[in-house]
Amino acid sequence: MIKTIEWKNGKVKMINQSILPLKEEFFECSDHECVIDAIKSMRIRGAPAIGVAAAMGITLGAKNSSASDVDELLREIDVICEKMRNTRPTAVNLFWAIERMRSVVSSRKWKDAESLKKALESESFQIIEEDIASSKRIGALGASLIKDGDNILTHCNAGSLATVQYGTALAPIYYAFNEGKKIHVYVDETRPKFQGARLTIWELKKEKIPATLITDSMAGYFMGKGKIDKVIVGSDRIAANGDAANKVGTYSLAVLAGVHKIPFYVVAPTTTIDFNISSGKEIPIEERDASEVTHFGGIQVAPDGISVANPAFDVTPNRLITAIVTEKDILYPPFEEKIADLNPQSF
Ligand code: MRU
Repeated sequence: MIKTIEWKNGKVKMINQSILPLKEEFFECSDHECVIDAIKSMRIRGAPAIGVAAAMGITLGAKNSSASDVDELLREIDVICEKMRNTRPTAVNLFWAIERMRSVVSSRKWKDAESLKKALESESFQIIEEDIASSKRIGALGASLIKDGDNILTHCNAGSLATVQYGTALAPIYYAFNEGKKIHVYVDETRPKFQGARLTIWELKKEKIPATLITDSMAGYFMGKGKIDKVIVGSDRIAANGDAANKVGTYSLAVLAGVHKIPFYVVAPTTTIDFNISSGKEIPIEERDASEVTHFGGIQVAPDGISVANPAFDVTPNRLITAIVTEKDILYPPFEEKIADLNPQSF
């Protein structure tokens, strides 16, 4: 299975998601500015993957520093972290990873720059390993919700490409398929950036999982025909009450699933939970460039001079979510207490 991001000979190697599926190319970053650009331009994307990229970018920044003493290095790391924070606003995994790297910095009084650089490097390696382990655990737990013969609808890409490997929403699908369950996946194309059409169906095809690509507006049609048994999506940020932000269009799917009494599962590692916000109303929603809506593959499809909105995410309220699958447990409503129990600060 594809490895989205890894450390290779002192560089960060990533698959270029902006040109998939037409070209399967990897690129390497040898400095943090390159990683920042890759996150902003969505050559790497998906909540856990951008968190991992940020951690590795900070490692690169520290490694390349020629600071003459620890204090200078600390100041440089502060600047790099601030730049990382300003790449994309919605996925909390990014901020979680930055804080995790900062906690290494503040964990003790560093006497020399080299040992701090080494500690940051090993923390980013640890984050990579934890992300893989978390996806595997999510896969094993989530597969228990999938029955032989299920038709599953997914939105955006929450597969291997959105993590280091295996994915979040797709991990239970991979596990269920490997357990021999006969499943079929409907993949929303996911306008405007086509993560479903470009990435998800590409991943599923590689793994030989039966899948059908549909446009976003077809989901209700297939639900109405009784063709969909469950909806499984990822998330970019889950609030303390279980409200979950994911790729725009997810909320509409949840409403449709509710009307058709189809289970709606949100699958995400605990690094996607923002324990500091009480509801989804506080989740910052990224507004992206209008050209993503007005243009299709570089071709203009809308008139000039019109008003365009392009929110990249929406928030599904907790009441529409059947369960939240994390690497620790499957949580059922009411979510508040169960989410609070997962808060590392409360241990
Ligand atoms: O804008 P993107 O492609 O980074 O958005 C990604 C999504 O919305 C995914 O569904 C989400 O990150 C969950 S992936 C593990």
